[in-house]
Amino acid sequence: MNERTAARRETNPTKGGLDLSQVRSIDGVDVRGKRVLVRVDFNVPIENGVVADTTRLTRVLPTIAKLAREEAKVVVLSHLGRPKGTPTPDTSLKLVAVKMQELMPGTAVRFAAAHSGDDAKRVVDALKPGEVTVLENVRYHKGEEKNDRDFAKALAALGDLYVNDAFSSSHRAHASLEAITDLLPSYAGLLMMAEITALGEALEQPERPAMAITGGAKVSTKIEVLTNLVSRMDQLVVGGGMANTLLLAKGFTLGASLVERDFVATAKGIMARADESGCEVVLPIDVVVAKELKPGAAWQLCGAGNVPSEGMILDFGPKSLAELKRRLGQVKTVLWNGPLGAFETPPFGEGTFALAREVARLTKSGKLVSVAGGGDTVRALNEAHVAEDFSYVSTAGGAFLEWLGGAQLPGVVALARSGSRTH
Ligand code: 3PG
Ligand code: MG
Repeated sequence: MNERTAARRETNPTKGGLDLSQVRSIDGVDVRGKRVLVRVDFNVPIENGVVADTTRLTRVLPTIAKLAREEAKVVVLSHLGRPKGTPTPDTSLKLVAVKMQELMPGTAVRFAAAHSGDDAKRVVDALKPGEVTVLENVRYHKGEEKNDRDFAKALAALGDLYVNDAFSSSHRAHASLEAITDLLPSYAGLLMMAEITALGEALEQPERPAMAITGGAKVSTKIEVLTNLVSRMDQLVVGGGMANTLLLAKGFTLGASLVERDFVATAKGIMARADESGCEVVLPIDVVVAKELKPGAAWQLCGAGNVPSEGMILDFGPKSLAELKRRLGQVKTVLWNGPLGAFETPPFGEGTFALAREVARLTKSGKLVSVAGGGDTVRALNEAHVAEDFSYVSTAGGAFLEWLGGAQLPGVVALARSGSRTH
């Protein structure tokens, strides 16, 4: 360990107490004939009665298919939306179960209009080895979000084993994620294992030099993330609206750009912390500026310190891109969260897309390990058609951010704790 790494470890013992090696994988466990409760994250976008994005379904499919192949009776638990204890038509998991059946035609996938109780029990009792039942939204019960032990007991009564394959929900200490692990032998699913391995390696033991790329509108929503990243990574590239507040803290004038004046001191603190731990903060050199944020708006390029009074920074410019490409050529790990411009409004996604293509190219040629996560980020990578070429793309939004911020995720902690006990 070099001095810098040692100092970094000392100033940032964020994952202290959580020993991920205690998390047991379901892989290799004898599940034949057993009722296996699998908590997944089927919180997918539904538009006009159709599942609009099946990523979370296809990513958890290997776990469900494996359990079915090994002749478990598979009972799937999930939430969808935020119904807060009251069923609503648009938060039923029925549609999702139907989609799941389409995605795995060789396996019987059914839906039960109950999450617990006698109705659910009847359905589970009728399951044959190798069959799958998706239970109704666990958030239809008020006990779910309260991490209620009685509700956890009602769920646990439906299974012999519990598997958490919902990394992207595991920042919630809810009954089907946390309390239930006290009641059944608990394991991580294949997707959970992949998520914690990829994210753990990129954040905690990255091949160095390691670069984090972070964007999004506001510093105020990512203070923990920035603080944690500067103490762990060698370079932190900041873009999007967030970069404006950092540029403001450095004394730049930014015209009509989005800035958070109340967070200038915070931004200064983060940059000071970066200095202390030897992390370089990389900000845009040139920027794309427009008077309005709308598709096809007239834009101009200018230096980051030369924004005209009516101009808003909406993307970074070609000089910044060249500098970022030069830096990418020197690092071995890239951890990406947050778009670097107003990418939903063309042409202001060009910077983000070009950088994504370069990360993908270097990853494909074996020069980089690249890990990305967060809803907007994954959307941007999909738009640039490069998500497939990244080393790992997380299914998590909020959970990914909390992990990047150094938080321990209750669902993951519960698995580690359960793994350290013998059942
Ligand atoms: C997500 O989509 O990020 C998770 O499913 C968590 O959903 P929640 O924010 O409603 O808890
Ligand atoms: Mg508990």
